[in-house]
Amino acid sequence: LGYFTYDPGFMSTASCSSKITYLDGDEGTLLYRGYPIEQLAEHSTFLEVCYLLLNGNLPNATEMADFEHIITRHTLLHDQVQGFFRGFRRDAHPMATMVGVVGALSAFYHDDLNIHDPEQRKRSAHRLIAKMPTIAAWSYRYSMGLPFNYPCNRLKYSEDFLHLLFAVPTEPYTVDPLMAKALDVIMILHADHEQNASTSTVRLAGSSEANPFAAVSAGIASLWGPAHGGANEAVINMLREIEKSGQPLSHWIARAKDKNDRFRLMGFGHRVYKNYDPRAKIIRGLANQILDRLPPGNPNQKLFDIARELEQVALNDEYFQARNLYPNVDFYSGVIFLSMGIPVSMFTVMFALARTIGWISQWNEMMGDEESRIGRPRQLYMGAERRDYVPVDKR
Ligand code: CMC
Repeated sequence: LGYFTYDPGFMSTASCSSKITYLDGDEGTLLYRGYPIEQLAEHSTFLEVCYLLLNGNLPNATEMADFEHIITRHTLLHDQVQGFFRGFRRDAHPMATMVGVVGALSAFYHDDLNIHDPEQRKRSAHRLIAKMPTIAAWSYRYSMGLPFNYPCNRLKYSEDFLHLLFAVPTEPYTVDPLMAKALDVIMILHADHEQNASTSTVRLAGSSEANPFAAVSAGIASLWGPAHGGANEAVINMLREIEKSGQPLSHWIARAKDKNDRFRLMGFGHRVYKNYDPRAKIIRGLANQILDRLPPGNPNQKLFDIARELEQVALNDEYFQARNLYPNVDFYSGVIFLSMGIPVSMFTVMFALARTIGWISQWNEMMGDEESRIGRPRQLYMGAERRDYVPVDKR
C-alpha cells in the first residue's frame, strides 16, 4: 500500500491526539480529563461536566457560578429560528429537524466568528450548550403540534430540559427530582466518548475550518444511525417487535446468532468495550431503581419485563459470552427514557443533547492545536484499470 495503511472502520488508527477523554476498552475504564466516570456520575452535575470537558479542570465555586450565568444568558433562540422548525413537516423525525436547525445556527453565527480566537470559540461552545435543550425540546414539541416552551433560567439544566419538553404553558410545572437526577446522570455518561463516529465527523468537518455549528450538525447526522446513537431507539423498536411477535426470546436469540440473518440484538456489543461498558454498569442500577418504582399498570410494563429477561438470557448465553457482547449504555438509556415518558423518536435527540459538549470540546481542542491539519483519509482503490472513453454508439 506504499506509504499508508489500509484500516477499514479505523480499527487501529489514532486520528488525533487529545487531552479530553481516556478510554480503555479492555479494562472498562472511562475518564473525562482524568476523572473516573463513576465519580462524576455520583458527585457531579452535567453542567459541571460541561465546564470540565471544555476547560480542562473542575471549576471552583465562582467559576461555576459564572459558567451557569453565561449558559443561562444564551438559552433563548433567535426568534427567526422558529421559522426553521415550521418549515419541516410535522411528521419529520426530530433528528432530521435537529440536523437542519443546528446547521441553520451557522447562518446566525458566522460572519463575525473568528474560529482562531479562543474566546470566540468558547462563546460558540457556550451558545451550543445553552441552546441545545431548547432546540431538542422544540423539535419534539413541533412534531406533536404543541406550542413551544421558553427556557426557564431559574431551573437547573436537566430540570429546564424537562420543563421545555413537557410543560403546559398555562400551568405551573413541577419537576420530578428523580427524573431530573436520572436525566442528569445519563447526560454525564453520554457527554464524551473520544473519537467515535460522530465526534470524528465533527472533527473532520471542522478540520476544513468550517463553521462549528455546521460541523456539529454533521455530527448529529452521524449519530443518528442505529449502529451509533440510534441504538437506544432501535432497542425499544426491537423490544416492541419481540412483544408483538409473541415468539419466545430463544427465537430472537437464535436469529441474532444466525450469520445469514441481518438481525442483531440492539443495545448489545460495543466497538471499543470488549469487556464491559462502565457506563452500562452505572446506568443499569439507575434503570432498576426507576423500574422498581414504576406504579402498577404502566402501559410499557410488558416491554420492561422483556428487557430484563433479554438482559439475563443474553448475559448467560455462550455466543454472547464468547464474543464479549454485553448490554451497552443504550440498552438501559432506551429503557429509562421510555419509563420517563420520553417519546421513542426523541431518544437519539437526548443522546445528541448530551454529546454536544463532547463534540464542541473536541472541536475547540482541534482548532487550538497548532499541529492539526485538514483531515484527508486515503483509500484502497479497487476499481477499473485505466481505459479509454468509448462513444455511446460504439458501446
Ligand atoms: N447481536 C448479535 N451479534 C453481534 C452483535 C449483536 N448486537 N454485535 C456484534 N455481534 C457479533 C458479530 O456478528 C460478530 O460475530 P462473528 O465474530 O461470529 O462474525 C462479533 O459479534 C463481532 O462483531 P462486530 O460487528 O465485528 O463488532 P463491531 O465492533 O464492528 O460492532 C457494534 C460493534 C456496536 C456496531 C455492534 O456490536 C452492534 O451492531 N451492536 C448493536 C447496535 C448497538 O447497540 N449499537 C450501540 C453501540 S453503543 C453506543 C455508542 O457508543 O454509539
